[in-house]
Amino acid sequence: MKKVFGIVKDGVVTNANTGEVITHLFRDIMIQKAEENGQALAFDTETDRARRIEVSEIEQDTTIEVPKQEVNVKADPVLALIQNAASIRPATLEMTDLKWKYLVRSALRGKNIMMVGPAGCGKTEAAKALPAATDRPFFYFNLGATQDPRATLIGNTHFKGGETAFDQSAFVKAIQTENAVILLDELSRAHPEAWNILMTVLDEGQRYLRLDEDINAPTIYVASGVSFIATANIGTEYTSTRVLDRALMDRFEIIEVDILSKERESALLAKRFPKLEAGLVEAVADIADLTRKEWRSEEGKLTTMVSTRMTVRVCDLLADGFNLEEAADVAILPFFDQSGGADSERTFVKQIIQKHMATADSDIFNTGNVDDMSVANFVMANPF
Ligand SMILES: Nc1ncnc2c1ncn2[C@@H]1O[C@H](COP(=O)(O)OP(=O)(O)O)[C@@H](O)[C@H]1O
Ligand SMILES: [Mg+2]
Repeated sequence: MKKVFGIVKDGVVTNANTGEVITHLFRDIMIQKAEENGQALAFDTETDRARRIEVSEIEQDTTIEVPKQEVNVKADPVLALIQNAASIRPATLEMTDLKWKYLVRSALRGKNIMMVGPAGCGKTEAAKALPAATDRPFFYFNLGATQDPRATLIGNTHFKGGETAFDQSAFVKAIQTENAVILLDELSRAHPEAWNILMTVLDEGQRYLRLDEDINAPTIYVASGVSFIATANIGTEYTSTRVLDRALMDRFEIIEVDILSKERESALLAKRFPKLEAGLVEAVADIADLTRKEWRSEEGKLTTMVSTRMTVRVCDLLADGFNLEEAADVAILPFFDQSGGADSERTFVKQIIQKHMATADSDIFNTGNVDDMSVANFVMANPF
């Protein structure tokens, strides 16, 4: 079937024929409009285009059903949780239903997951949301920040009153906790020795940690149901294998964290900063979106983009009374290279921001429309 028909209720879109949740196929604003007008939605899987339709236009699925795996959710409470994953996602986390469901399922099934994506796109945020949502014990290790992987992952040996004593690390305790979710944050930046130590721990067939290289050293087994979630500040799998050891990568299922669309970025910011003017929030989302498009395009001028971490910071400053120019100046521009002067990445981003200042300005003063003259004056009077 080429078209997928969606029924909207309380902001959630379900497939009219299969009952599957398909909210991720539609933009928030479209879902909202459809719901307001009592309409349904259609998604064309060949063109990837979505539109609002009247409920009467929904077509019954006449294609032959692909046999579906019978899922007996009553017999397995974990299955029920996986099916309802969307309902346990915190409102402040923006992640597609599918990726969140995959994450939830991995935690509940004791799988290893590696979340990859550029800096500031919500990897740590999503990983931290997981134990709370699934009610699992949680342990956090920032591997990018430790200088001494042995001490962090195994423990410290020290001498006390002429005797050698061994202090086990918090990690040793963590892996012995049944059903724990263990976050290995910034694994991509960890010391290679950390990767070596983790090899056996993460391997499906081994799942143990030896407390020393010594043959007689005690071996600690990973408790049942433990799920390791790693994060890596990298792009696609292709680039990540060059940064991380292939054997280590192979021990994980990979989730590529989404870079948010303009609509989802602005929805996230509006949710977090309900007191900010809608126009201002949209301007921030649009600035981020333009840098993302430029960064993604092959001939683009930018080697990095405005991340969600940055847009959140900008809105924080706006909420504290900074204007858009000031907020962008301190929270965005330092991340863009200024070499090359007028041709630099920083100048490029500055220009994007400047274009938005007129809009943001008119919103602040609620004038509705600003004539060309006053925009020109404003920009000239406020050079960066
Ligand atoms: N998809 C997202 N949903 C909600 N908040 C996000 C998202 N992406 C980034 N953020 C915000 O930006 C900040 C940085 O996100 P973080 O998860 O630490 O990024 P990283 O991908 O570098 O781990 C977080 O504090 C969070 O507030
Ligand atoms: Mg992080």
